[in-house]
Amino acid sequence: MTKPVMIAFEPTDIDAISGAEGRVAVIVDSEGRLDAGARRVNRLTKGALKRLTEGAEFTKAKPGQVLSLAYPVGMACQALDVLCLPRRPSVEEARKGGASLAKARDKSEMLVLAGNAPKAADIALGLALRGYTFEDHKTETGDAAAAKVRFMVSKPEVADAAAAAGLAVAEGVFMTRDLVNEPANVLTTSEFADRLADMESLGLKVEVLDEKELAKLGMRTLLSVGQGSDSPSKVVVMHWNGGAKGDAPLALVGKGVVFDTGGISIKPAAGMEDMTMDMGGAGVVAGVMRALALRKARANVVGLVGLVENMPSGSATRPGDVVKSMKGDTVEIINTDAEGRLVLCDVMWYAQERFAPAGVIDLATLTGAIIIGLGHFNAGVFSNDDKFCNAFLKAAKAEGEGAWRMPLGQDYDDLLKSRIADMKNLGGRAAGSVTAAQFLQRFVKQDVPWIHLDIAGVASVGNETAYAPKGATGWGVMALNRLVQDLFEAG
Ligand code: BES
Ligand code: MN
Ligand code: ZN
Repeated sequence: MTKPVMIAFEPTDIDAISGAEGRVAVIVDSEGRLDAGARRVNRLTKGALKRLTEGAEFTKAKPGQVLSLAYPVGMACQALDVLCLPRRPSVEEARKGGASLAKARDKSEMLVLAGNAPKAADIALGLALRGYTFEDHKTETGDAAAAKVRFMVSKPEVADAAAAAGLAVAEGVFMTRDLVNEPANVLTTSEFADRLADMESLGLKVEVLDEKELAKLGMRTLLSVGQGSDSPSKVVVMHWNGGAKGDAPLALVGKGVVFDTGGISIKPAAGMEDMTMDMGGAGVVAGVMRALALRKARANVVGLVGLVENMPSGSATRPGDVVKSMKGDTVEIINTDAEGRLVLCDVMWYAQERFAPAGVIDLATLTGAIIIGLGHFNAGVFSNDDKFCNAFLKAAKAEGEGAWRMPLGQDYDDLLKSRIADMKNLGGRAAGSVTAAQFLQRFVKQDVPWIHLDIAGVASVGNETAYAPKGATGWGVMALNRLVQDLFEAG
């Protein structure tokens, strides 16, 4: 697994600055005021730092931007990175500043002179998140995590404690990104289940249900998706019981289609390679469970993922087939490429039957239509409960993860009527994301608060984002971690 860079907080040692190797970073506020560390750097460099902060480039710099000086005289380092931050930065500015430092650092060692800087922990989090690279399949690489990052601060214990929870979450985000970036010949259903089972070492209880058990439970719609593949379908259940015994858990349910060819309703060749990320929902559930375990969250959360591969073959489901869900409702499969909902409906039903959860949140790279609607900046949010939904939207906003609520309603639900079964798995071209959500809602029990997150547009993107390079983003891990904190751990 890709590990976030090690970040150590140590007391400020002004005399160690001149000899520091790699890169040295100083933080300067918008008025150009220098703290003790920066003043020493200025003296060592014979005023180069002041000349920079009094120049036009610095005046024009945005909060969180880094200006670099290469091979400064009087210092052993290869570069001096000047992070421009307001005197009282917001969480977002601090994290973005950390992300800028990560980009400047690349794979070098770095010493950050953070002194009394407020939000040093958020700078560290941004630095860790943006430092991610996925290089498992490159033969020649440097390791971004190998070189250490040190923060010199006035109160190391305080900064370390503040940063610890954030860095646990960063590890969760990295797990999600690794899973989403991994190609489908490596991340088979079995490999995915093995990686989840490995999290037992963190104190999670992990169960892996095989096809025989799933058949016994009646998960026919889930099994119908995987039956064309040589990789066996699996459902993995991860338990984190950090809360009071007997408290109903939050259930997180993830779509884990390790590769989506479309099945017999096969997708066009162009872009099909992107469907290695169709397990993104399951990836987020895994990352959240990892974060909760690492920071020993005082909450009960159960994570369930349906792991299948959607392949065409002689044993694959045909368009027109009718299958029975675990709930008992029958589904006419009009299009085998609308498979995510068939996986989720059985796992969601199982989660409610077995755990009577306080709430259910499902995550899925469910529809291309949500990308048409919202692009790559917001996930689609669907819910039957305003309070629950607003709590999620608030958490997502606080973590800078775009989320936008979409409608549900009877008119959309009517589009799922089937001539021969209880419903179709397809509502037609119009409002494709809403009819998909509507399908899922048919498997939500009365009075169970539920949120559906369609992350097709945000799980993996073609351009770098504030906190991630191109590719998997880990969208949702931070928001869900915060939601757990807000709803279950407050007070
Ligand atoms: N996995 C896809 C959705 C998707 C598309 C995810 C693009 C990420 C990027 C899903 O299984 C799918 O194929 N959806 C179809 C549904 C249609 C057949 C109703 C789609 O969106 O075209
Ligand atoms: Mn599909
Ligand atoms: Zn899919």
